[in-house]
Amino acid sequence: MRALVLAGGAGTRLRPITYTSAKQLVPVGGKPILFYGLEQIAAAGIVDVGIVVGDTHVEIERAVGDGSAFGLQVTYLQQEAPLGLAHAVLIAEGFLDGDDFVMFLGDNLIEGGIEDLVASFEADRPAAQLLLKRVPDPQRFGVAVLDEDGGVAQLIEKPADPPSDLALVGVYLFTPAILDAARAIEPSWRGELEITDAIQRLLDGGARVRASEVTGWWLDTGKKDELLDANRIVLATIRRRVEGELDAGSAVVGEVVVEPGATLVRSTVRGPAVIGAGTRLEDAYVGPSTSIGRDCHLARCELEHSVVMDGCTVADVPRLEGCLLGRGVVVERTVRRPAAHRLLLGDHSHVELAEG
Ligand code: TTP
Repeated sequence: MRALVLAGGAGTRLRPITYTSAKQLVPVGGKPILFYGLEQIAAAGIVDVGIVVGDTHVEIERAVGDGSAFGLQVTYLQQEAPLGLAHAVLIAEGFLDGDDFVMFLGDNLIEGGIEDLVASFEADRPAAQLLLKRVPDPQRFGVAVLDEDGGVAQLIEKPADPPSDLALVGVYLFTPAILDAARAIEPSWRGELEITDAIQRLLDGGARVRASEVTGWWLDTGKKDELLDANRIVLATIRRRVEGELDAGSAVVGEVVVEPGATLVRSTVRGPAVIGAGTRLEDAYVGPSTSIGRDCHLARCELEHSVVMDGCTVADVPRLEGCLLGRGVVVERTVRRPAAHRLLLGDHSHVELAEG
């Protein structure tokens, strides 16, 4: 059994972060999203992992290396363009070498790991096994219709009128039969080889496709609010570890990680929250569900329910919440006249200014 992890893609829904960074490396709970999946793959006893990469391959390779830190052997598979999940499977054919495999979307997080799923697939070996999750808004997802025995009868990509509320989670198990199916399909209206079409092809050919439902959380971090939600949910599982320095006027309340080399001066952190190594807080309040990266400087500000990546400065801003700040971002109040908001924003940035 091998694993194929998809860490390419265009990431249009997470611009401008994805203009310069791989969305799979945005940290939630102080750790890159991609690492959670790699750890779960290793925990399921899989060693050979192919990581499909696109434009951000240098950054992904730098972060994951040869995989030995995870107990994995990683092979990088360059996809020339984000031509779809089934296309990613096709370019991996040489790496897969005729083995069964688990395909894991590098921007998805699931609770509880994949050990049971892999074991039940290996015991029964259907052509494909899908993970499903009941969602309130199935129009946004690939949706499965089950037959009376619980097998998958049909798959529909983003149905306008959903026949079920069972969305496809970004973890799939396949035998090599998926390769022929992927070769047989045409690109969809959005120009991608869709994995749902390839699986439907398996079904049309009479193959058996099984489904299991995820009972815990499943997080697709493709958009800002989903990513902040993922950060909130993952942070809810962290345990207190305060290794940085606090002065007498600082307080750390609840489940908070303060990494070594972080400094708190007259500041309060209310967990769950992570403060990265080398970050300095002065007269600052960091509230629940917030991850601050390394080497940031937060002064005279309040920040809650946010992800702040490495090297950011936030100063003299009374209240920020629901923020995702990329690396090296500066948000500060100025006394310069005329008193106006001055913005320097990359393409597709998004700013919400509060009233008053
Ligand atoms: P998506 O989030 O479905 O696609 P995307 O990354 O292109 O994002 P957007 O829709 O915002 O433009 O992709 C799911 C995962 O699969 C993600 O980790 C990126 C990866 N992927 C590939 O590696 N190759 C591909 O061709 C595609 C479409 C996605």
